[in-house]
Amino acid sequence: MKLTNCIVTLATTLVSARPQDDAQPPNPHEWMAPGPNDFRGPCPMLNTLANHGFLPRDGRNITKDNAIAGFNDGLNFKASLGALLWDQAIIANPEPNATFFTLDHLNVHNLLEHDASLTRADAALGNNHIFNKTVYEASRQWWTEEIVTPEMLANSKIFRQLESRAKNPEYRFTATTEAFSLGEVAAPVVAFGDFETGSVNRTLMEYFFELGWTKKSDEVTAKDITGMTTVIGKATNLLTGGTNDMESMPHGKRNLHSGMF
Ligand code: HEM
Ligand SMILES: *[C@@H]1O[C@H](CO)[C@@H](O)[C@H](O)[C@H]1NC(C)=O
Ligand SMILES: *[C@@H]1O[C@H](CO)[C@@H](O)[C@H](O)[C@H]1NC(C)=O
Ligand SMILES: *[C@@H]1O[C@H](CO)[C@@H](O)[C@H](O)[C@H]1NC(C)=O
Ligand SMILES: *[C@@H]1O[C@H](CO)[C@@H](O)[C@H](O)[C@H]1NC(C)=O
Repeated sequence: MKLTNCIVTLATTLVSARPQDDAQPPNPHEWMAPGPNDFRGPCPMLNTLANHGFLPRDGRNITKDNAIAGFNDGLNFKASLGALLWDQAIIANPEPNATFFTLDHLNVHNLLEHDASLTRADAALGNNHIFNKTVYEASRQWWTEEIVTPEMLANSKIFRQLESRAKNPEYRFTATTEAFSLGEVAAPVVAFGDFETGSVNRTLMEYFFELGWTKKSDEVTAKDITGMTTVIGKATNLLTGGTNDMESMPHGKRNLHSGMF
């Protein structure tokens, strides 16, 4: 028994230690799980870019240059868009005039990280930066068709806010949070959806949240993000069009209501 184990171990060691001796160069963007000393944060996209080496694999030293290059190589984002996103995020590093942030900086609650996320628990209710299956399922239940519409995305956002406000006494969601949150909810459309309709393939979205992401072929600009954010924002409005059929109501009821208000 012992000998067998020994041989198996030895064989495994030899196979895994064997250098890549054929013509294939190692892929620098191969997926690798983070090591115990690597930082990861609440952003599924930055985590996955780090897992693929588009951002530093240790989750540190996210300089403007590294962010611009990583978003360009990994997501086909225009350099000006990468620069804009980085400029908004550098406050995460508390040092004055910081030139980089780390993924761990992003975990600080109520700075950039916020309540009612699609896939993370509220800080007051659990771990606010690791994937949480319960929370994810609560969001995912609204993606009811193979092609997810802006309304379905908005439903996830509204539901998570409702759930948070009802269950979390420390629920906090400012106007600034709203702007960031809309950007995050729109992000799957930006990364691999359809700008025309603001919709996104559910399989790809599930793949992204559960495993990683796939790259878009068209260049993405800041205008594209603003456009998608506006579409999702409009979809969070719970009013519909149309008129109410007042004439068909009994007269007493109509008068009662108009009299009350
Ligand atoms: C410098 C660039 C970026 C920074 C600093 C950043 C940071 C963050 C942070 C702090 C959160 C957590 C918010 C929360 O509490 O829910 C977050 C969430 C998110 N980010 Fe990013 N992000 C960046 C770029 C991107 C990009 C390019 C995408 C995809 C196109 C993306 C997709 C998402 C999504 C989908 C979420 C929501 C996760 C959830 O609600 O569970 N992010 N990001
Ligand atoms: C951080 O990234 C910059 C490139 O943006 C690079 O020049 C520098 O060597 C990196 N520093 C560390 C500590 O990795
Ligand atoms: C940060 O930058 C500002 C403006 O360039 C400068 O006045 C200030 O001294 C810097 N602070 C530190 C701690 O380097
Ligand atoms: C996952 O989220 C649920 C619902 O908010 C929460 O009760 C639970 O503690 C979270 N789990 C972790 C590991 O944070
Ligand atoms: C969604 O994407 C998957 C994976 O690329 C593909 O197999 C599927 O046909 C797509 N669904 C629709 C409705 O386009």
